[in-house]
Amino acid sequence: MNTGVTETVVIIVGAGPSGLSTAASLHRLSIPYVILEREDCIASIFNNKSYDRLHLHLTKQFCQLPHMPFPANFPSYVPIKDFLKYLDDYASHFKINPMFHNFVKFAKYDEDRKKWKVEAEIVGGRSAEEEGGVRWYEGKFLVVATGETSDVFIPAVDGLSEFKGEVIHSTEYKSGERFENKKVLVVGAGNSGMEIAFDLSNHGAKTSIVVRSPMHILSRWSTNLGLMSLASMPLHLVDSFLVFVNTIMYGDLTKYGIQRPKEGPFLMKVRDGKYPVIDVGTVKKIKSGVTEVKEHKRRWK
Ligand SMILES: Cc1cc2nc3c(=O)[nH]c(=O)nc-3n(C[C@H](O)[C@H](O)[C@H](O)COP(=O)(O)OP(=O)(O)OC[C@H]3O[C@@H](n4cnc5c(N)ncnc54)[C@H](O)[C@@H]3O)c2cc1C
Ligand SMILES: *[C@@H]1O[C@H](CO)[C@@H](O)[C@H](O)[C@H]1NC(C)=O
Repeated sequence: MNTGVTETVVIIVGAGPSGLSTAASLHRLSIPYVILEREDCIASIFNNKSYDRLHLHLTKQFCQLPHMPFPANFPSYVPIKDFLKYLDDYASHFKINPMFHNFVKFAKYDEDRKKWKVEAEIVGGRSAEEEGGVRWYEGKFLVVATGETSDVFIPAVDGLSEFKGEVIHSTEYKSGERFENKKVLVVGAGNSGMEIAFDLSNHGAKTSIVVRSPMHILSRWSTNLGLMSLASMPLHLVDSFLVFVNTIMYGDLTKYGIQRPKEGPFLMKVRDGKYPVIDVGTVKKIKSGVTEVKEHKRRWK
């Protein structure tokens, strides 16, 4: 079913923080745009796919969106509830009305007409007629703001299909409450995995975590200082400082199965898109043996 073409100047794909920032900036300059979002709300990963204890991992000055600061009474590490309220206020303030249920499948630049043509499939719409329908958008510019982490991935692990226990993806995890006294294995030691392991352990679950690759674990305050220093210091110096300080603070973690990579934390972020882990207390749990690290030995298929 083809329901016609919507013409605009800028087509934004994704209504997460990046898409919203782009929309607000265009609104201020009175440049027409549409913002297409496959889900039914803004900032879907924060609204629907995050856990209860989440506070932003960076201090507030690094997380507010352009043209509208966080309210002055926000704490340094903004809780998810406050962040969601801020994003709602942000969208209302800049009159951002995303086209929800629009899952962008295809975009092509037409050289002759100097325009982008974007195809969106209607998903999760309210009526059966709408479902699976296609809408077209045309614009001079295309901004892809679909995020780095918005697609769920569960690797094909040997034996997973025969496993009798419950398996959930981190996006379905809300709290450790219902796991008290249960054995839980967290696969993946990124920021989500490490914080979920911490939360499980706080709720009395017998928690282990699988670590596959070397990783940088940084304390909150040193990350903050590092980010501030980037304004005036070259990246490799900031990296050296971070590795030095955090090695002293955490000591040798190799005996717990955690190795530090040779490259610095910010270099790995900039070059490979790999985030350092910002410690919310998990390292202490690991050192005291409450949370066990299992080194990854078998390869995922
Ligand atoms: C535990 C944890 C803590 C974090 N803490 C911080 C922090 O303190 N500070 C910080 O800045 N960041 C933090 N992040 C990272 C945060 O997730 C990103 O900064 C932020 O979500 C990026 O916003 P975005 O708009 O680029 O992408 P996203 O928030 O991923 O938004 C992308 C949007 O695009 C939509 N989309 C995707 N594909 C399509 C498509 N084909 N068609 C239509 N719509 C589509 C998605 O549904 C989604 O709504 C944290 C992440 C985690 C997991
Ligand atoms: C996601 O969260 C928003 C805000 O709470 C809600 O309106 C929406 O229905 C949720 N969507 C899904 C798919 O759970």
